[in-house]
Amino acid sequence: MPGRFITFEGPEGSGKSTQIKRLAEKLEAQGITAFCTREPGGTATGEAIRNILQHDAAGEPLGERAELLLFTASRAQLMDHVILPALERKEWILCDRFIDSTMAYQGFARGMDVEVLDRINDFAINHCKPDLTLLLDLDIERGFQRLAERYSDGKGSADRFEREARDFHVRVREGYHKLADREPGRFHIVDADQSVDAVASNVWNAVKGALL
Ligand SMILES: Nc1ncnc2c1ncn2[C@@H]1O[C@H](COP(=O)(O)OP(=O)(O)OP(=O)(O)O)[C@@H](O)[C@H]1O
Ligand SMILES: [Mg+2]
Repeated sequence: MPGRFITFEGPEGSGKSTQIKRLAEKLEAQGITAFCTREPGGTATGEAIRNILQHDAAGEPLGERAELLLFTASRAQLMDHVILPALERKEWILCDRFIDSTMAYQGFARGMDVEVLDRINDFAINHCKPDLTLLLDLDIERGFQRLAERYSDGKGSADRFEREARDFHVRVREGYHKLADREPGRFHIVDADQSVDAVASNVWNAVKGALL
């Protein structure tokens, strides 16, 4: 069996990190080992970049183009050092956010030129797109309610994207739908406004249908 590359996308709090774990467990139970990684991050360089991106850690506001190139630098490093080697070894790799986050956030929400972003993305990933992208679709308010509950347990604090205005996140969600319309063969939309088990079961059916 060949290696497989699956990405999880969706607005804030839609359940990406929860579902990636569930899918890895499900695959493991079927005798398939899947390695989970995330963006930005997944390599030492990428995690350092993540820290700058999420909390303005360099101590100055980050410009839009610099932000974009930091995301894509993290992606190129992850691609060359983690994803492509895993696929060459015929392993499964699951990634929490990937190229479509750039398109949704920097492109459709911030308004940067989506054709330019497509080309930069393609360069960063060395033309190797995911086999399947699971879009966890959730109403913006529901996502933020979930995050508020997560933070009330003392787990983390809002990052610079979560602090953006509501209409920014509405554009993120709509942008994801445009991306899914553009590549219906790669995307699978999952209704994320269901229990964790129900979402996990829909994710599993999508993976089985597309890749097994
Ligand atoms: N189906 C669900 N129903 C209710 N709560 C959920 C569901 N899925 C996840 N949660 C909870 O909602 C919060 C956000 O979930 P999670 O961290 O998986 O989302 P995320 O998409 O990774 O968020 P982020 O965009 O911040 O990375 C967590 O506290 C999680 O336990
Ligand atoms: Mg997450």
